Amino acid sequence: MSEVKILLEESDIPKQWYNVVADMPNPPAPPLGPDGNPIGPEALGAIFPMALIEQEVSADRWIDIPEPVREIYRLWRPSPLYRAHRLEQMLGTPAKIYYKYEGVSPAGSHKPNTAVAQAYYNKQAGIKRLSTETGAGQWGCALSLAGQMFGLDIRVYMVKVSYEQKPYRRSMMHTWGAEVLASPTDQTEAGRKILAGEPDTTGSLGISISEAVEEAASREDTNYALGSVLNHVLLHQTIIGQEAKTQLEKVGDYPDMVFAPCGGGSNFGGIAFPFFADKAAGKEVRLVAVEPTSCPTLTKGEYAYDFGDTVGLTPLLKMYTLGHDFIPPGIHAGGLRYHGDSALVSQLYNEGLVEAVAVPQIATFEAGVMFAQAEGIISAPESNHAIRACIDEALLCKESGEAKTLLFNLSGHGHFDMAAYERYYNGELEDYDYPEEAIKQSMQNIPKVASA
Ligand SMILES: Cc1ncc(COP(=O)(O)O)c(C=O)c1O
Repeated sequence: MSEVKILLEESDIPKQWYNVVADMPNPPAPPLGPDGNPIGPEALGAIFPMALIEQEVSADRWIDIPEPVREIYRLWRPSPLYRAHRLEQMLGTPAKIYYKYEGVSPAGSHKPNTAVAQAYYNKQAGIKRLSTETGAGQWGCALSLAGQMFGLDIRVYMVKVSYEQKPYRRSMMHTWGAEVLASPTDQTEAGRKILAGEPDTTGSLGISISEAVEEAASREDTNYALGSVLNHVLLHQTIIGQEAKTQLEKVGDYPDMVFAPCGGGSNFGGIAFPFFADKAAGKEVRLVAVEPTSCPTLTKGEYAYDFGDTVGLTPLLKMYTLGHDFIPPGIHAGGLRYHGDSALVSQLYNEGLVEAVAVPQIATFEAGVMFAQAEGIISAPESNHAIRACIDEALLCKESGEAKTLLFNLSGHGHFDMAAYERYYNGELEDYDYPEEAIKQSMQNIPKVASA
């Protein structure tokens, strides 16, 4: 049997992030202001430091990773790449399955890859506090950790349903010194507005983003940090795909298909974009984003300009959207409950350069349990989406006899998601129908933009 864990040295941690914009066939659609005109970098200056704004609009292929950021990456990176021999045997597939495991970070997912970078640049810019949202609790933990490392105060608006489902995620954030609130709160105008209309709301990422952005925009000492969607976030995550390529080279392999769960698109972009560079140069590789059928942004959404948050405080981004005021069903993959998607991922999907599939909740848990029983690692409900899609492809290979090489991103562990697993074992999980009516209604509220 060939290697199980394919490991790199600390000195192999990439020294640069890869910017996919340099290899996209068309320049990214610009963000627009409320008047429908493209915004300049200064419009973002109230909530982001200039270094991150520059990265947001950069077309340079490579951007240097500051040494203090690489120093912190060394606590858990390079992350291991595994060959899933035992899962292959369990499935009886001729396919080769590899997975990149990002759950080895202190917070338990890929999110610290960008949290550390964002905290660093904000500290450099003299910022004292960061406000943010969290869905699954993974991003809130990641930023709390990074804030602790760089001496920044962190306030986290945690989506109410996750706040209730995952009390120990809250304790982790407290351990790293952050303040955590169940969103919507009565502490922001956005929160009060939502609560007035819907006092029993489960919350959503879009609502929590509105609250965190409002706070950052109204305080000099406070900036905002976003855990996904924006170009600079996906940029920081590309260390995942760069490491994975080097690891696969070590064993003389290359994937036919790459899978990742897709909420706002950051871990998908992180693993897929470095392979996209090869695709742009003519190599054949399929890049597949996997989303929930209950929040099917890429597969059922519309490619249009829309707000990134529920209340409409952010610039307009051209992305696949289900409508900024769509509140997805309370599935356990909280990190995938987002109405929109990264503009970069959206554009590549629109141009047919990356693919997407949607999978139902119960089937994702079934896949997660199979994976845990074969490979040992208990994965996050979000990551189970990628596992499901990869297993489905491996089973197709079993039928066809094709020995494809499959790679997926195991974006996080599920150690704080055991209540969800328990509900699955008790037969209490639901497969929500595609919320057609709710989406139709919220799509009526997306802004009318002439150039969209
Ligand atoms: C473990 C895990 N995977 C995936 C995601 C989805 O986010 P993104 O699409 O930005 O990677 C999240 C978000 O919270 C997450 O916690």
